[in-house]
Amino acid sequence: AGTIEIAPSILSADFGKLADEIAEVTAAGVKIVHLDVMDAHFVPNLTIGPPVIASLRRHSDLVFDSHLMISEPDRYVEAFAKAGVDNITFHIEVVDDPEAMVSRIRDLGCTVGVTLNPQTPVEAIEKVAPLCDMVLVMTVHPGFGGQQFMPDAARKIADVRRIVGPNVRIEVDGGIDPDTTPIVVAYGADTLVAGNAIFGRPDRAAAIDAIRRAIE
Ligand code: DX5
Ligand code: ZN
Repeated sequence: AGTIEIAPSILSADFGKLADEIAEVTAAGVKIVHLDVMDAHFVPNLTIGPPVIASLRRHSDLVFDSHLMISEPDRYVEAFAKAGVDNITFHIEVVDDPEAMVSRIRDLGCTVGVTLNPQTPVEAIEKVAPLCDMVLVMTVHPGFGGQQFMPDAARKIADVRRIVGPNVRIEVDGGIDPDTTPIVVAYGADTLVAGNAIFGRPDRAAAIDAIRRAIE
């Protein structure tokens, strides 16, 4: 596992002032911002797409970590790469040829993540995971911020770590806060997505510090 990074998810931010929200977490020292893309098809919710991300790109130098909760990632990865994301994470549940998808995303100049829903077994990503830069383990059903952490899904982190070894990042997403952070770090996660626990609080720097203190 690498150094532990906190990746605030803007899903719980004020969408009317996203650039300011990102500046606030940047000032608090984070290096990554997590961008949740939803298509109202793979998940029952709708968020942002390439135009908003391209606009944000002009306001931020953070690593843009895009999480594509969309049914046909193959049709849109190029648009996200052009919008300026650094990492593209796709869902294994909707991709027929994951290895081809990894090459495609790399050819677009981005790093690659693969992710799996809470009910998807680790076996589904066993072959492709070692080829990726990152594996994202979902600890809620994707679609909404502020849901409750699922401990059984988090246990998969340890299995993923055994499969990928130390050099692939393991990101965890869903219900991450100062209480759940020590659990997922103990399992081997090194990239912590937090939406509600950061943007749901008035003092984002204090919220980020609280997560950091939970792993010291
Ligand atoms: C959920 C998204 C998450 C979400 C996490 O579908 O993928 O990134 O923002 O939100 P919290 O941290 O509030 O559970
Ligand atoms: Zn996410």
